[in-house]
Amino acid sequence: MLRSKDLLGMQELAPDEIVLILDSAATMKRVLESGNKKTAHLQGRSVVTLFYENSTRTRLSFEMASKFMGAASANISSSGSSVQKGESLLDTVRTIDRMATDVLVMRHPQSGAPHGIAPRVRASVVNAGDGMNEHPTQALLDLFTMRDRLGRLEGLEVAIVGDVLHSRVARSDLWALSKLGAHVRLAGPPTMMPRGLEGTGARICRTVDEALEGADVVMGLRVQLERQKSGLFPSIAEYARFFSISADRLARAKPGALVMHPGPCNHGVEMPTLVYDSPQSVIDEQVTNGVAVRMAVLYLLNARRNA
Ligand code: NCD
Repeated sequence: MLRSKDLLGMQELAPDEIVLILDSAATMKRVLESGNKKTAHLQGRSVVTLFYENSTRTRLSFEMASKFMGAASANISSSGSSVQKGESLLDTVRTIDRMATDVLVMRHPQSGAPHGIAPRVRASVVNAGDGMNEHPTQALLDLFTMRDRLGRLEGLEVAIVGDVLHSRVARSDLWALSKLGAHVRLAGPPTMMPRGLEGTGARICRTVDEALEGADVVMGLRVQLERQKSGLFPSIAEYARFFSISADRLARAKPGALVMHPGPCNHGVEMPTLVYDSPQSVIDEQVTNGVAVRMAVLYLLNARRNA
């Protein structure tokens, strides 16, 4: 059983809760692979997604997950809602909460926004990305994919390359992987490497080559141009020259090392299309596993509400 009514971040989850979600997701994946993508786990329940930032994968996978499990689901985004009339986040979520919502999935540009909201609503709040802080369900689907393919998490060497500073995905992965005994190496432009990471146990590498050497998993992170206030690197071409996960660089990783990316990918920047589409790439699988993981999260939060 999950301990909290909400899923706010990997920082807040205990290792046994992470394993519980991954194990439940394995069951859900079997449902997705069967001819009948339907369960009754969320029958009579409601799920609302509230997004203040753009999304394709996260939002759609929560919506599909809710529908596969029989919930009433609805989406609302900041554009097209009363947010445009100046309504506050708190008034917006209170309104949603009062429509008998059981689970509120929210994405917001401000770090910590869901943490402020969670104690003020009856619904279970799921963080679908808060600013530069966390994106827990992305980390869960990343871990699920690694465990599914490699059979374990403990002792894995995971290289994360790119815009670590702006990446809530990197932060959630760092928390989650270190809790389950995997080792993280980070590489990226020094201007995109946050300070104070030494305490997380991650190894900060000076070059991509160094990070990839002998790695089991190689993950690219999108260069988040929308979160940059000033140019943190001279040009896209310059970034690609030093930090792109090229086939040559990938050859330094273990044979058959997994290539991952949370998406959306800037092809030719984080990695060339050749690597994105290579047999080592599990990027498409990450998307499929994202639905299974979100089904598991919704199932477990609902089970706790019923208890
Ligand atoms: C990520 C996000 O929004 O944090 N996307 C996602 O959910 N798959 C990563 C990104 O936008 O770069």
